[in-house]
Amino acid sequence: MADPWQNEYDFAVQVARAAGAVIRKAGEEEIKVQTKSSTVDLVTKTDERVEKIIIGSLKEGFGDGTHCFIGEESVSKGEPVILTDKPTWIIDPVDGTTNFVHGFPFVAVSIAFAVNKELEFGVVYSCLEDKMYKARKGKGAFCDDEQIQVSDVKDIHKSIIISEHGTDRSVEKVTKIFSTMQKILCIPVHGLRGSGTAATNMCLVASGAVEAFFEIGIHLWDIAAGVVIVREAGGLVLDVDGGPFDLMSRRMMSANNNVIAQRIIKEIEIFPVERDDAP
Ligand code: IPD
Repeated sequence: MADPWQNEYDFAVQVARAAGAVIRKAGEEEIKVQTKSSTVDLVTKTDERVEKIIIGSLKEGFGDGTHCFIGEESVSKGEPVILTDKPTWIIDPVDGTTNFVHGFPFVAVSIAFAVNKELEFGVVYSCLEDKMYKARKGKGAFCDDEQIQVSDVKDIHKSIIISEHGTDRSVEKVTKIFSTMQKILCIPVHGLRGSGTAATNMCLVASGAVEAFFEIGIHLWDIAAGVVIVREAGGLVLDVDGGPFDLMSRRMMSANNNVIAQRIIKEIEIFPVERDDAP
């Protein structure tokens, strides 16, 4: 049977590539920075412009009213996060805004597509590296045209783990984050890393460059596309307590296998965050 979402998938790849070109160009010009939830939660005109371009193009292609859209910048302007059974696009126009502002070379466009609340495909365009990661449910994960796979490392001592500290700088949370990182580092693992974009971090798990990436405090638009890419590359996505992954919970552990995931989970100090679908 023909894939019902093939057109949407192909279109998402084209739109992500075009959006990435706009971001690259904008990075050559002066970047005006504003802040959102805190003084370290940055946003630029480019985030807003690129989200408008992406949603505008998707509406031109599929704008018969049957599709819904959840975009980082629309939500920060007050739109609610509601995931229904309808075909829904989940968009982070610029994942790694802080990197973009500083010229740190990892910035991604992340576009995911869900139907009946199930993620169908994900596209992450790491636009400064010019790498297109994509995965369609049941059809494998790819970087450009090469199929990618998670690493086969099962020994935690031979692993590299990614985590991020997000944008909440309350001493309580930062202390828990660094205490977790310290415990993981002292297992010991080969290394701890962080690219500054959750979407790219997940692609690094998917392509076998690292064994796991986890974070508490991410939003669904940061990771929705990456979830499909990790799963299709043979990895798994769980809650940070080892339970089932919940897209709205703002907690996520992605790993190459369950041995690595469970070993890291043992060390994670969990702190509360408000869900993305909180009223
Ligand atoms: C951020 C990045 C970062 C992660 C933060 C996210 P943004 O997304 O993905 O890696 O640590 O939690 O908010 O704000 O640059 O789209």
